Amino acid sequence: MSSANKELTSAQQEELIATAKRAYQHAYAPYSTFRVGAAVLLEGGEVFSGCNVENASYGLTNCAERTAIFSAVSELGAERVRVRAIAVVNDRNVACSPCGACRQVISEFGPDADIFYIGPKGVERNSMRELLPHSFSSESLT
Ligand code: THU
Repeated sequence: MSSANKELTSAQQEELIATAKRAYQHAYAPYSTFRVGAAVLLEGGEVFSGCNVENASYGLTNCAERTAIFSAVSELGAERVRVRAIAVVNDRNVACSPCGACRQVISEFGPDADIFYIGPKGVERNSMRELLPHSFSSESLT
């Protein structure tokens, strides 16, 4: 069975969250001061992390989720990037589900991914299809 259909164990979840927490230490967020970390688990078992990287020209900011995915693509090549799960954390402990732009990017590489984000209620989970129903995808272009 493909690992894509298997739920993460709680140990895997915790590890992914711990990796995301380490990633926000590198956040460059002088404008919002909202430091975010993300960690993606690929179907092949590899884990990549990322942080938000802001810019004085605010709109050029890259969110943690996209940094993590772009890092995986640049390291492995897109054909090996199939996202199984992604964890997102921030330094304020507010529940932070991915923004619209990140949902579109996660969906490109993981339409069936599970998204974990952590807030005061603990770990919350959504599927990518819950977060971005009726998504625009490569199939829309055929
Ligand atoms: N941000 C992320 O990195 N991920 C999210 O899911 C939401 C927002 C960043 C973008 C910006 O640097 C800061 O958080 C405030 O919006």
